[in-house]
Amino acid sequence: MTLCKKTALVALGVIVSLSALADSDGHSAAPWTVKDLHANLASMPVGDVARGEKLNADMMCASCHGEGGQALSRNWPSTAGQRTSYTYKTLQDYAEGRFVKHQGAEAMAALSAMLTQQDMADLAVYYANKNLPTASVQLALSDDAYRQTDYLVRQGDVKRLITPCASCHGVKGEGGINETPALAGQEAYIFERSMQSYKQGVRESDVHSAMRQIARQLSDGEIEQLAAYYATLPKSNSTR
Ligand code: HEC
Ligand code: HEC
Repeated sequence: MTLCKKTALVALGVIVSLSALADSDGHSAAPWTVKDLHANLASMPVGDVARGEKLNADMMCASCHGEGGQALSRNWPSTAGQRTSYTYKTLQDYAEGRFVKHQGAEAMAALSAMLTQQDMADLAVYYANKNLPTASVQLALSDDAYRQTDYLVRQGDVKRLITPCASCHGVKGEGGINETPALAGQEAYIFERSMQSYKQGVRESDVHSAMRQIARQLSDGEIEQLAAYYATLPKSNSTR
């Protein structure tokens, strides 16, 4: 790590408190178009796993996201096993302000702004090389709730124009094409927060507002159940 990055990290606390004071309706970056995103992902530098591992430790990512991206608490997302393209894109989203209005993203915005595209690619392949995570909290769903949620995941809901989650995120929540993230084993609290951020329109990272439109159709109860459902994957697949 360069001295410059170390100094910058020391200043992180200051940046975080300053950005918390900033106008919550402040700047956010232009939305992605499909064309821009494809061009961006196509020009991703080749990632270096060993360098990613070192950055994960040196840039303090591991202090929240854990060694190898297995989160240390329910309050932080696991990044292990995540698709390279999603991590690479998301770090740029934080750096460029697509999460600006989304509470809790200040530290990530400040840290990501210090990363080069090469750093982002290295971290992304390092996480992608790990297995999917295990959520620290496993919330039990009643059989009825499980059935309803599994139906929503696999069949969607035609009446509300909800496309099945599995058609994009994979049947086991393993992630899909391009930037479509893995969801299996993610902390339920984080999953719920992401969905609520889409629902409330404060997370502006999704192309064509696709996730915002889906989240708006879901009740808070359904979101809670989906979070519990995905937190138990992939383990539940072998028994259910
Ligand atoms: C102080 C704790 C902390 C540190 C240090 C930290 N993060 Fe995060 N990270 C978070 C939190 C909290 C979120 C979720 C924020 C949100 O809801 O937008 C997050 C989100 C992310 C996400 C998006 C996860 C997803 O599924 O959408 C990625 C990728 C990520 N961090 C990578 C990193 C990397 C790489 C570093 C080091 C350069 C790092 N983080 C340092 C707390 C931290
Ligand atoms: C048309 C494809 C598509 C469908 C259908 C879809 N998703 Fe997504 N989802 C995506 C993409 C692409 C992203 C990444 C968006 C971004 O970069 O913000 C995403 C992001 C997410 C995230 C954020 C993950 C994170 O780590 O922050 C969650 C949670 C999620 N989707 C849950 C669901 C659920 C639950 C359903 C079904 C009710 C669903 N999605 C249906 C494509 C889809």
